[in-house]
Amino acid sequence: MNATTRAEVSQLSQDPSSEDLITNPNGGPDFLNIVKARLDRRSFLRGSGASAMIAAAGTWSLAGCGGGDDSPPSPQLTGVAANRPSALAFAAVAKSRDDRVTVPEGYTSRVIFRTGDPMAAGISAYSNIGTDDPATYSRRSGDNHDGIEYFPLNDAGTARDANGNNRGILGMNHEYVTQQFLHAGAPTNTDRGTDAVRPQNEVDREVAMHGVSIVEVMKQTAGAFAVNGTWGYVQTSAYNRRITGATRIEMSGPARGDAQLITKFSPTGTATRGTLNNCGTGYSLWGTLLTCEENWAGYLWRDTSDDVRRGGATSGDVVSARRYGMGVGPRKNFNNDRYGWGTLAATTAAGMAANQVQSVGDLNDRWNANLVAATADLDYRNVANTFGWVVEIDPYNVNATPKKRTALGRFAHEAAVTATPKVGEQIAVYMGDDSRGDYFYKFVSTATWTEADASSTNRMAIGDKFLDAGILYVARFNADGMGVWIPLTFSNPAIASATNFRFTSQADVCLNTRLAADAVGATRMDRPEWGAINPLNNEVYFTLTENNNSALSSGGQSGRRPDNIDAANPRFYADTREATNSTTAGTNTGNPFGHIVRLRDANPAATTFSWDVYLFGAQADADPARVNLSGLSSANDFARADGLWFSGSTGICWLQTDDSGAFLDQSNCMMLAALPGNVGDGAILPAQAASTTVVGSTPAGAQLAATRRGAAVTPSTLRRFLVGPRDQEITGVTETPDGRTMFVNVQHPGEDTPAASVAANLGDFTSYWPRAERAPDSAPRADGPRPGSATIVITKNDGGRVGT
Ligand code: FEO
Ligand code: CA
Ligand code: CA
Ligand code: CA
Repeated sequence: MNATTRAEVSQLSQDPSSEDLITNPNGGPDFLNIVKARLDRRSFLRGSGASAMIAAAGTWSLAGCGGGDDSPPSPQLTGVAANRPSALAFAAVAKSRDDRVTVPEGYTSRVIFRTGDPMAAGISAYSNIGTDDPATYSRRSGDNHDGIEYFPLNDAGTARDANGNNRGILGMNHEYVTQQFLHAGAPTNTDRGTDAVRPQNEVDREVAMHGVSIVEVMKQTAGAFAVNGTWGYVQTSAYNRRITGATRIEMSGPARGDAQLITKFSPTGTATRGTLNNCGTGYSLWGTLLTCEENWAGYLWRDTSDDVRRGGATSGDVVSARRYGMGVGPRKNFNNDRYGWGTLAATTAAGMAANQVQSVGDLNDRWNANLVAATADLDYRNVANTFGWVVEIDPYNVNATPKKRTALGRFAHEAAVTATPKVGEQIAVYMGDDSRGDYFYKFVSTATWTEADASSTNRMAIGDKFLDAGILYVARFNADGMGVWIPLTFSNPAIASATNFRFTSQADVCLNTRLAADAVGATRMDRPEWGAINPLNNEVYFTLTENNNSALSSGGQSGRRPDNIDAANPRFYADTREATNSTTAGTNTGNPFGHIVRLRDANPAATTFSWDVYLFGAQADADPARVNLSGLSSANDFARADGLWFSGSTGICWLQTDDSGAFLDQSNCMMLAALPGNVGDGAILPAQAASTTVVGSTPAGAQLAATRRGAAVTPSTLRRFLVGPRDQEITGVTETPDGRTMFVNVQHPGEDTPAASVAANLGDFTSYWPRAERAPDSAPRADGPRPGSATIVITKNDGGRVGT
């Protein structure tokens, strides 16, 4: 332990407000020291960095990861500790506005799977100019690649194999569509606020380009992208499968069969069609994909009379719709009929706009969320209740029907990550609700873990066992460094007697999770995005991407203001470089760069936890007392962490940014590698009153609530690994089990290109990636290709583990 760390731990434990803080320096066994003692010291202690890492591992008695008793660490854990680099040593990638993917010297990145790429035999190569047959889109890659997981196969491709490093299945999300690039010209009738009907063929494309791709990848010698021995996807694989905005999905768990899930499609409330706005992912302990429905509310259409038809502003239906951000009135806006799909729905209620009726079956009708018929089995008044879930998909079985797991709650799900339990423990799934001022959740299963569960071939049944029964909790972060998991159960008196919404059952709680969490005093966070589990100690990390004050309310919650900062969301400041996108100057106020919180549960079912702030996003030159609190430098400054994942091979934490206007003047979105310590490895920061002077890039006015900061980072513990092309987001990362092949998604390059530029077909797109690169400030090429989302594969040229 170096002097600084010792002093900081001492400061933590002596702080008068740290009552019951479990940073007891004389506590239980040091987990990493146990691991260390069981490893070959020469392979593990590679320099002072390793020693520092061990020292930083803190003093909790760790449960849930094999270190708190005399059992040997699992082979996987031993491997992680042995493979973890003592310090990050690759050459940091500089911030960049170039229209390309940049990785460190000694690494190679290649594009392997792009928007529109064919996923079945007989499907033509993607035209990329909107002339493909709409009927083929459900057998092509979707758009806007997001969360991604690798499911290993044996070399023969016949079965799941935990050591499948040469062949596997990618499960990935397609969050939304960049409409201007999907059709032959500009998309038709997308003008905001109008009832003009969208063409069926364009809607069909857009629905099909949502959802999930299950696609086989392998080291190959032939195919669209093949170079001998490099990775490509397998166009004709029997594993390939699309789950789109129209695929049949079972409802599962406590809300299955509830009256609030009855639709014309499913009068029993047991099934639905489609998954939408799939953002982050999770990898279940039994080898299935967990895909998370985020900003689904805006896809549905309600007219200005719907609130009245449902009983007015105080009716449960309307209270819930508003809390989930569903709009009424003007169409084709973010919160109401976003893409105009509802313009094709049948309209049957008196007084509603007389749209052209062009139903195909009733696939179109389900975008009409209005109460229009006599009973719920005759319309889609309840369709909103069929979105907002974690959906489980078995990537190894194309015939397994996906299930929406209602026990995990309904909100704007970002990711769903599972800590590794001991045999006999319950399992915990951690989840964020990405909206300003929304919450962080944990689901704890009723069932307990057995070794056999991990290798079952009846994976959806294991999902039934663990994800359909349990308790959902929401987090409250206390200023003393402890937190509480508050149960969201109908038997919780705060919920049973809630005044914001009348709950009558556990299904009600699952369906209206945000309202239940409101009733119990959860902590309003700065937009919780991905969670991730540190495999070395099961600590849970989650990104708070940002919380600007520019949008003071969203779904009834507040932006971060000077009067509502708290220990876990402690900063208020202004950033003046850019306001809302890469071309608009202005000021962001609140928490424009975001931060990352981490917490420690003693075991999966723990109802209290300890926490700190692992990392604060900032520009390197920002005020070190109030803004750049983690000591970022040019090698690692960033804004708006979103994607977050720990490698199971190397233990490296990978963080990815989704910046829409805080740091884009300096750099395109990026991915960084990190070697974090543990909860409590830093110091308590005292509150700072609003500054009166400008410090670096920070204008006057910045202030800070007293909080718990993790150890400051250095370029050895946080380093920029990748910068992507222009107007995109880096999101989703996974690896082969050996850590030698990494897959990363690049989402929506060139998104700021106006639709008019596409329609004019002059190639004036802000990005040409992945088919070309556009030089900064260059004149458009008439033949400039439309940009698109893509999966890239990253390998180290010497065959080593990525990031080491
Ligand atoms: Fe789809 Fe919250 O990012
Ligand atoms: Ca995200
Ligand atoms: Ca985001
Ligand atoms: Ca900025």
